Amino acid sequence: MSILPIIRLGHPTLRSTADAVDPERIETPELQTLFDDMFETMFDAAGVGLAAPQIGLPLQIFVYGLAKGLDDPEPSIPPHVVINPILTPAHGDLVSGWEGCLSIPDMRGLVPRYPQVRVQALDRDGKRLDFVAEGYEARIIQHEFDHLNGVVFLDRMRDLRSLCFEEEWEEFVAETETSDEVTAVG
Ligand code: NI
Repeated sequence: MSILPIIRLGHPTLRSTADAVDPERIETPELQTLFDDMFETMFDAAGVGLAAPQIGLPLQIFVYGLAKGLDDPEPSIPPHVVINPILTPAHGDLVSGWEGCLSIPDMRGLVPRYPQVRVQALDRDGKRLDFVAEGYEARIIQHEFDHLNGVVFLDRMRDLRSLCFEEEWEEFVAETETSDEVTAVG
């Protein structure tokens, strides 16, 4: 496995629309290695999600999970590979939560997201995924899904005044936060 370079805001691929993956290609060694490399890159960067456009690859693939690594026996959120996803938000008021992005390093902002989304996609074996995610997991999924459409969390913020640097967030915001959720960085 290898750690891949993460591109940052300003790189045109982050603003492009990703192409669907040919399901026939999912089981090729090339893509299987890519999934492993994406996980390794995500864990190395201490993120909870990573989309293929963030490593300069305009394909509809993202990985996510809250775990110490792929072999974590008790992950908070098991590692997932999500390919060619369709998201359907459930009804409900948008919920504000803190997000950051590996492609916009060291910044945090409050982003409104749906509390629940249905995910239809393919997994790393090319099998159909169809599940409903809630809360923090739903937030990560919406953040990563946006990357497949050239959208970053800044575009979703309703009020840019909550935007801050991570260090200042830790100093001035963290202790006033009542939410137990960790910041979603992906
Ligand atoms: Ni991101």
